[in-house]
Amino acid sequence: MATIAFLLNGTPQRLDVSSDMSILTLLREHLAHTGTKEGCASGDCGACTVAIGEPAAERQIFNSANACITPAHQLQGKHLVTVEGLGTEKHLHPAQEAMIECHGSQCGFCTPGIVMSLFTLHESLTQRPFPLTPELSQERSQERYQELSQTRLEATLGGNLCRCTGYRPIRDAALRMRDIPFERPHWYDATLSEVGGHPALSDTAVGTSFFAQPKTLAELTQLRLKAPQARLVAGGTDLWLESTQRLMPLEQLIDITRVAELLTIEEATLEEQTGWWVGAGVTYTRLEPLFEEHFPAFAHLLHRLGSQQIRNRGTLGGNIANASPIGDTPPVLLALGAHVELASANGTRCLALEVFFLDYKKTVLAADEVISRIFIPRAIEDTQLRVWKLSKRREDDISAVLGAFSYRVEQNVLRDVRIAFGGMAAIPKRAQGAEVALEGNTITQAAFRAAQKALDDDFHPMSDVRGSQHYRQQAAKNLLERLYLSLSASDHEVMLHAYAH
Ligand SMILES: Cc1cc2nc3c(=O)[nH]c(=O)nc-3n(C[C@H](O)[C@H](O)[C@H](O)COP(=O)(O)OP(=O)(O)OC[C@H]3O[C@@H](n4cnc5c(N)ncnc54)[C@H](O)[C@@H]3O)c2cc1C
Ligand code: FES
Ligand code: FES
Repeated sequence: MATIAFLLNGTPQRLDVSSDMSILTLLREHLAHTGTKEGCASGDCGACTVAIGEPAAERQIFNSANACITPAHQLQGKHLVTVEGLGTEKHLHPAQEAMIECHGSQCGFCTPGIVMSLFTLHESLTQRPFPLTPELSQERSQERYQELSQTRLEATLGGNLCRCTGYRPIRDAALRMRDIPFERPHWYDATLSEVGGHPALSDTAVGTSFFAQPKTLAELTQLRLKAPQARLVAGGTDLWLESTQRLMPLEQLIDITRVAELLTIEEATLEEQTGWWVGAGVTYTRLEPLFEEHFPAFAHLLHRLGSQQIRNRGTLGGNIANASPIGDTPPVLLALGAHVELASANGTRCLALEVFFLDYKKTVLAADEVISRIFIPRAIEDTQLRVWKLSKRREDDISAVLGAFSYRVEQNVLRDVRIAFGGMAAIPKRAQGAEVALEGNTITQAAFRAAQKALDDDFHPMSDVRGSQHYRQQAAKNLLERLYLSLSASDHEVMLHAYAH
């Protein structure tokens, strides 16, 4: 059990929650807040979307989250805003008003979740500086609102499924919101200081139930030693599905979301390479500005990783530790030559990411270790990165195959070629034969044919619901073909942008 204190629509709450309780269960079954709906219970449909506020600079920042897979204990010291809190009958929030005006709702089941996603969009564009740089003035953020892009709209709504209305009226509502006067809800200025930022009171005697919320890496590694059987939870976007989909108990948990060292992004040098140490607990949403600036192709991939709700919570460390062969970031990190740092009570060790993965969902991580940081080297001058994800749906879908290609072109000769694929083996893996076929060769069809042939030895993919063995083998070859075509056509893109990223 954990005792947590948080704000619910501005009202302080202090209560006991079991460590494996989700916010959705807390709301619906314990707090009689049934406006938040349960659809899929797996983070896919967005019916359960809520907003979680955290203190930042002078105001709170609200991010959307799937209540069904977000642990209730992570609310400690935060502000939970649900659809019940947005407006009154007399003054609806602009998101609600716009949905009515634009006929954005029919059966209404998805509507609370969609309204909450629109609320966070409204907040981020009108109330808080965007994109998370305090220097941007209110005026500047209003400017951004006028320029609300297609990509941003898609990102806002990509994690909310609506079966009956269709997205045009909902999109219209997103655009209409800006013209509706905003009357601040009564809770708007509620301060989080009332509930305190200390870790949730925890149950740390090792028994059937165990819960801890460490604040430092030293505390975390000590706890890992004391309770190696306890599961680590970061965003919970993989782990919590074990509870909601497989009905596995999650009674022994260490919440790592408050470990200071896991939350930093620092410029650094490793083995004479400059780059960044990214804390394992850094979310995709926080990573986006770094990637936008230095790895645009990686940033582009993030737009297709899960949904906004998932990106607000999912972490780089969680994606690597989960060791799924179809996790999106490992192939890209392999192509970039990333390293992982593993920490235990005995100290740290640093490994190239490619030796981290052993077999399907097996890694070198020892029972007393955690992933503490990931080193991403800065791309040396002229190095290109291409990342192509193939999935059945553009938004909120896991890859069937993902190819990541890093290389330089020196007088039409390929250098420093690193190619990695997801979905092609039991682990994310480099295509070593294909790399050899291209390294030091001029960009010719013959070189690329040889690389495609080498893929037959590099990988023996499996067939599953996402793609047959034949599909995967052919798709990987086609991505190499795509690279060849784009390089031989003066580096121009060769597919429609909308579906090709
Ligand atoms: C709807 C939905 C869509 C998704 N879409 C995608 C997608 O498009 N692409 C994709 O790659 N993934 C996707 N995912 C999977 C998931 O979001 C990512 O893998 C995410 O990065 C997991 O991070 P997390 O912080 O939520 O991990 P958690 O769920 O908290 O943890 C995952 C695993 O890693 C362990 N762990 C976490 N942090 C550490 C650490 N620092 N050290 C050691 N072990 C650790 C946990 O114990 C657990 O076993 C999706 C998930 C959902 C629910
Ligand atoms: S119930 Fe579907 S995302 Fe939570
Ligand atoms: S209005 Fe029925 S699912 Fe969206």
